[in-house]
Amino acid sequence: KPIIFSAIQPSGQLTLGNFIGTISHWSTIQDKYNCIYSIADLHSITVSQNLYLFKKNKLDTLAIYLASGVDPQKSIIFMQSEVHEHCQLNWILNCYTYFGELMRMTQFKSKSKINSQNINIGLFNYPILMSADILLYQSDKVLIGQDQKQHIELTRNIAHRFNSLYGNIFKIPDIYIPNKYSAKIMSLLNPYNKMSKSDSNKNSVIFLLDDQKTVLKKISKSVTDSDGKIFYDINNKAGISNLLNIFSSLTGKSILELEKKFFNTTYKDFKYLLANVISKKLNDLQEKFYYFRSQKSYLKNILDIGAYKARKKAKKNIKVIYDILNL
Ligand code: TYM
Repeated sequence: KPIIFSAIQPSGQLTLGNFIGTISHWSTIQDKYNCIYSIADLHSITVSQNLYLFKKNKLDTLAIYLASGVDPQKSIIFMQSEVHEHCQLNWILNCYTYFGELMRMTQFKSKSKINSQNINIGLFNYPILMSADILLYQSDKVLIGQDQKQHIELTRNIAHRFNSLYGNIFKIPDIYIPNKYSAKIMSLLNPYNKMSKSDSNKNSVIFLLDDQKTVLKKISKSVTDSDGKIFYDINNKAGISNLLNIFSSLTGKSILELEKKFFNTTYKDFKYLLANVISKKLNDLQEKFYYFRSQKSYLKNILDIGAYKARKKAKKNIKVIYDILNL
């Protein structure tokens, strides 16, 4: 079976964007692929973390993975920092990546603007650690949202470069964006920006652990337009189009179907219906989340087994690379 790699940083509460863009697809592909789902805690420390919250967020993230239906019997779930080969391969790939390539990464540019007090080398290096995550397992595909596309293109370039020097060492991974409508969920208050867990205004983000009242409040306040008609037009009606994307992704109904259904509906009623759809999905997820989250030793056990399985694959591959380079 082909290998799929995907990961999320446990830096804060996960968002509806993370869920719709990635997590919601994970359980459905488990039978068709060998799935490797990582909790990218090494990536998280590129921005400063409150260590108490960080510890909690890492386990919360794991419990969300499980609540979404990822089955540890079928898929490998592991904590990135528990498999040291990621850092080993990261260093090697550093030596095959150009400064200019990293300078072009749009996420680095925007993150260093927001984070101007702490533009550390880790933040700059971030995409190469991602490349190491992916290439270490000879992944066939990488499941991501739209914003990570440039990083995977870089990964492909690094792999090609390495292969052209030393033979067919790395599999060149394909980008896997399961659904273009769900690949970029936008901020509720500024629908031209991505919904992001690090947004300073929490009203622009739906968190997976938000309760029903909060969801209704945030959706009600979301920015739309003064036109009053519900249809998809990403340029002129970015807010409504984003809400349609969310509705479509969570219900499986097509945008066209929704446009027909809501032809005569007011924004207010549409938002109310959407808030209900979101809450229903989140309630179900949260119920399972709180169950798994309370099983501390079970969670630890899953991480132990996951790291063991991941390490086994990683060790084999890193040895090949070390041998090639006479290390
Ligand atoms: P992170 O935590 O920023 O995002 C995790 C995944 O969620 C997707 N995503 C979204 N999708 C749709 N709409 C949104 N608003 C939205 N926000 C986030 C992201 O595209 C991403 O797929 N650095 C990676 C984590 C990582 C990784 C990897 C991913 C580490 N190593 C190797 C793939 C392969 C990241 O963006 O995390």
